[in-house]
This record gives sequence, structure tokens and C-alpha cells, in this order.
Amino acid sequence: MNKERHNQARETFSLRAGGYNLESTWVTSVDLISPLFTGLDSGLDVLDVCSGTGTVAQVGTDLGHSLTAIDLSPEMVSLNHIQKRLVASGSALPFVDCAFDHITCRQGLHYLDLINAMAEFFRVCRTSVGIGSIVMNKENDRKFWQEYFKLASPGRLHVFAPGEIALIARSAGFESVSVTYCTSTADILGPVQHLNRREKKEIELMFSSREIRRNYNVRLKNDILFYDLIWEFTRLTKRVD
Ligand SMILES: C[S@@+](CC[C@H](N)C(=O)[O-])C[C@H]1O[C@@H](n2cnc3c(N)ncnc32)[C@H](O)[C@@H]1O
Repeated sequence: MNKERHNQARETFSLRAGGYNLESTWVTSVDLISPLFTGLDSGLDVLDVCSGTGTVAQVGTDLGHSLTAIDLSPEMVSLNHIQKRLVASGSALPFVDCAFDHITCRQGLHYLDLINAMAEFFRVCRTSVGIGSIVMNKENDRKFWQEYFKLASPGRLHVFAPGEIALIARSAGFESVSVTYCTSTADILGPVQHLNRREKKEIELMFSSREIRRNYNVRLKNDILFYDLIWEFTRLTKRVD
């Protein structure tokens, strides 16, 4: 089943690649990338997993690190200007043990087989991992997001509740040294420009329930439906038992 989902993710991002950087303001927001690098020494070897068009890797490079970027989608990788970049799966990393000081992964973990990906992150990193994910506000909303992603991004395997990533990482041998939160605002239709008109209407309709409107502060401004997102940044280090 995961192989099928990987193919769906690859197909979705081949359609989204050209417009990806403009889908939502968070894509290129340095404030929503820099927490992945906070507190690190400079000049580290860093692997950015699910790197997409290279927004995270570029910030890491600007901070003085040496970045390698990997992503499953050839179309996304072709728009990535990081020198060391390759097409590869985040759950089967083509690198030797401890090849990188630090690993980053923003808005990508939910596409990966978690057990394999966490084991691979543990194997390939020497010291630490920074994960950035948009999380649901309430555990009760899981069903809503699963239905949403069936239409918006069918290759997606997971939706995370706050704190869930740290728990999953723990069973792979990591300990979480910090979990921080911040919010951003997004256009509901931003990441679904690849869908047809009927499907976009269906997405808008999904956000019209009273509970979802309240939980995500859904509002109409200049004919555009906006909502609030919660970002979770989890810093992991390898546990020494
Ligand atoms: C929402 S984008 C995030 C891109 C970038 N990290 C960012 O923050 O802008 C998710 C990316 O994950 C990639 N992806 C999906 N499944 C993957 C997999 N199994 N292995 C590696 N990359 C994958 C997609 O191709 C896409 O570029």
C-alpha cells in the first residue's frame, strides 16, 4: 500500500511543482524554516529530506551549512538549486551510517513510512534531527484531515496531533530536546490548485462545518478563504541509553 501512496505523492508533486513556492506564504517564510537550525554550530553537514524546491536547504546554506537535498519527485528536485541534490525516498536513504551531522525535514514526514524513516534518520545522522510539521489542532479533527487529504494529496500517509512526532521518534531511539509551536495563515485553495473546479468546491465545502470553522479560524477576506495553521518544530537527538 505504501508503494502505491509513494506513486501518488510523486504524481501529485509533479503537478504541484511549478506553482509550489507560491501556494502558501509559509513555503518560503524564513521564520517557518529557521527553527529547524536553531542552536546548531555553524558549518555542519546537513541532509534535508523531502526537500521539494529547496526552500529549507537554501536557508540552511545561507546559515553556513553544507546541504544535501533529497526528494522523491524529479519535478520538485529539478526546481531545487542546491548543488548536492538527488531523487531518493526519505525512508530508504542512499547514504552510509552517520553521514550527516544534522537532518531536517519540513512538511515531509507525513509522506514517509514512519518506522523505516525514523530508523533511517537515526542511522544516517550523527547528532540531531529537526522536524517541522503542520499539526491538527485537536485529535478529534483526525477524520476531517484524513478525508481532506484523500482529495488534496492522496499520497499522504499520516496526519499528526501535537506531540505525536516526539513520541514516534522516541521508539526509534531519539529523545526530543525541544518542541515549539507557532502559527501561520494560509489560503485554503493554495495547495490544491492542481485540482479541478468541482474538487476545489468540495474542499471549500469541507471547511464550512461550524466546528472546523471554529477550530481553524476559517474566514473570508477579499473573496479568499483563509485559515490558521499550527506549526510544530521538534528537535531530536540520539538517545544515549
Ligand atoms: C509539502 S512538500 C515540502 C517541501 C519542503 N520540505 C518544504 O518545506 O517546502 C513535501 C515534499 O515531500 C516529497 N515527498 C513525498 N514523498 C516522499 C518520499 N517518500 N521520499 C522523499 N520525498 C517525498 C514531495 O515530493 C514534496 O516535494
